[in-house]
Amino acid sequence: MTPSLHAPTTPSEYDDNEIVNLASNPHMNDLLAARLSRRSALKGGVSVTAGALLGGLSLTACGGSDDPVEAPKALALGFAAVAKNKNDLVTVPDGYQVSILHALGDPLHYGDESWKHDGSETADSYNRRVGDGHDGMYFFGLSDDGKYQAERSDRGLLAVNHEYVVGPYSLHPAGITAGAARVPSEVEKEINAHGVSVVEVKRGSTGTDMSMVRGSRFNRRVTSATEIAITGPAKGSALMKTRFSPDGTKTRGTNNNCANGYTPWGTYLTCEENWLNVVSRAAGDNAQRSPKEVAALNRYGLPENRKSPYLWDTAGSDDLFVRWTSSVTGASAAEDYRNIANTFGWVVEIDPFNPTATPAKRTALGRINHEGAWPAPAVAGLPIVIYMGDDARNEYIYKFVSKALWDAKDVNGGMASGAKYLDEGTLYVAKFNADGTGQWLELGFGKNGLDTGNTTYAFADQADVVTNCRIAADIRGATKMDRPEWGGVNPLNGEAYMTLTNNSNRVDPNATPTGSQLKPDAANPRAYSDTYTNADGSTKTNKGNVNGHIIRWREAGGSVAATSFAWDIYLFGAQADAAANVNLSNLTAVNDFSSPDGLYFDPRGLLWIQTDDGAYTDVTNCMMLAAVPGKVGDGGAATAVGGTATIKGANATGDTVRRFLVGPKECEITGIAVTPDGKTLFFNVQHPGEDGKLTALTSNWPDSQTTAGSTKRPRSATVVVTRKDGGAIGV
Ligand code: FEO
Ligand code: CA
Ligand code: CA
Ligand code: CA
Repeated sequence: MTPSLHAPTTPSEYDDNEIVNLASNPHMNDLLAARLSRRSALKGGVSVTAGALLGGLSLTACGGSDDPVEAPKALALGFAAVAKNKNDLVTVPDGYQVSILHALGDPLHYGDESWKHDGSETADSYNRRVGDGHDGMYFFGLSDDGKYQAERSDRGLLAVNHEYVVGPYSLHPAGITAGAARVPSEVEKEINAHGVSVVEVKRGSTGTDMSMVRGSRFNRRVTSATEIAITGPAKGSALMKTRFSPDGTKTRGTNNNCANGYTPWGTYLTCEENWLNVVSRAAGDNAQRSPKEVAALNRYGLPENRKSPYLWDTAGSDDLFVRWTSSVTGASAAEDYRNIANTFGWVVEIDPFNPTATPAKRTALGRINHEGAWPAPAVAGLPIVIYMGDDARNEYIYKFVSKALWDAKDVNGGMASGAKYLDEGTLYVAKFNADGTGQWLELGFGKNGLDTGNTTYAFADQADVVTNCRIAADIRGATKMDRPEWGGVNPLNGEAYMTLTNNSNRVDPNATPTGSQLKPDAANPRAYSDTYTNADGSTKTNKGNVNGHIIRWREAGGSVAATSFAWDIYLFGAQADAAANVNLSNLTAVNDFSSPDGLYFDPRGLLWIQTDDGAYTDVTNCMMLAAVPGKVGDGGAATAVGGTATIKGANATGDTVRRFLVGPKECEITGIAVTPDGKTLFFNVQHPGEDGKLTALTSNWPDSQTTAGSTKRPRSATVVVTRKDGGAIGV
């Protein structure tokens, strides 16, 4: 993207992550092609014969004695589907109600004024206010004595990511001040509006409603200036040394916290995604670097002479600002911030129950555009397993397997338990084969050519492998995916799911890929391009995998630590009236969607799917669906538009996938948590009205939810959903 002060307000660029994997891993599929347009396809004028390519495929690998336990029959959707709409409201099913838990700028403690809708709040006050860009979150039950109590529903701590400053809209009095250099007070406010909030929440008199406990001793902000420890293989590495931490053991800030995870011992995992938004690199810096350093910086999207969209580094000579330039300016790494980029892109552990505990960047889990970190259910005597995705076009899916074996005595062990399970283990990357099998490829120093003698990149040690695990994954031949977003593990059968939101870089199988373009493959089978007329008469061109899909896998033998798996594509996004080879999951009016992003299995095994879409938005705002999924292998062979063979799950029906809510204008629905009793559901609305300007607002949500004709600024917020009769949500 062209660096600009206003880049954060061009969401389509923001969302369609600019950084792509250019590594030339071999591609397994060279498949049939048919050039189709989405609109011609949906008119029914095209027919592609399916099946031949996969005719010989056996799905027996998906059956047999390791079949998972079936979902209990009792798990059934029990609400009327919400219709697609473009209202400036959250629309929920009949019998449900919503309230706002907190929104950008709300004070966590007493002593700061309420948010004023005019951007007048001070930068410092954001150390005590709710941040911007609500994203991933988790609900931790809170016991009467202030500890983690997993089964508790009426009182808890809600940790929420604040991914980014949505734009000039809401944070500053008159938007971002124009000019070559940023205004220090504005940058400081943005730094403090990023990160994570932890707030105590409590049920009120109705028994199911939930509100924030202002002034709770647990209420806390972690921002892009908070001191954070570096732990695991990269702790103390030469790659982590900065002027702030000459021994490479700590850094400041967690940034661009997108999705999340949680641990069975009761801590929060927040994941650093688009940190390139705030890290620059000077012209001429390559000449100061080794070829290896240049290769690593380029692979992570940081070429020399690269300005960051937010330009925090331009706000003056204060160390808080210059630290955002990843350039050689001093005599050694201990005297400048040449390594600052190496200190972002990690999974960060926070103990929500101990506001004074220093968070930790757990480097054993690798450095990528971390969308989130989703644990498999912990089993005594087995390792902790965490699935992760790298959200950029053509990037990978990873798995971490702890060395330590789970012992329930470590619940409430805080950061010490985190060190035990997350600082030592094995990192893997996924390879998806066309026949429905897959492998986890180990990323370990000294193994499989990841060593000092590697001619592509000479790894120095495991610190180098985890810090540059994209390069290690390239070398191992991992499968390039269509932008991995959220994942989750079905608590009823242990199968893992991950959304692949879209990929404009997939090209028609007949085309000759250029640059970072890729042909489709079985796990990423869709590529088509069309220009069509929106409902409002404007035109739009979509390319590649426009609507996204959700892949899932079952580990061999049902063992979380397995190194092979069986996969299929659970669900394909599409509009309901698209042709059958586009609408591969047979979606209908009650469940059609595009660009799945958020995904979450609630404690009951109900699956929730959230969208961050730019393709179907002429018809509907982004949405959330509820689903009762089947299992890997419950569908069969399919052929995607363009002729690429794949394996899909059972078709959706109104009974298995159903639209639960639609969000306000120009928002993304992201972040979700459900209390253990299923009676309170939290979700986040991020960037409502993101296409507007201060002088021409396009949304007034959340105020518009209760005030017709509102003129207030839109802001990101956490929403509470309950049933009016106090019953369990979704069933
Ligand atoms: Fe922050 Fe990949 O969404
Ligand atoms: Ca996301
Ligand atoms: Ca997204
Ligand atoms: Ca978005």
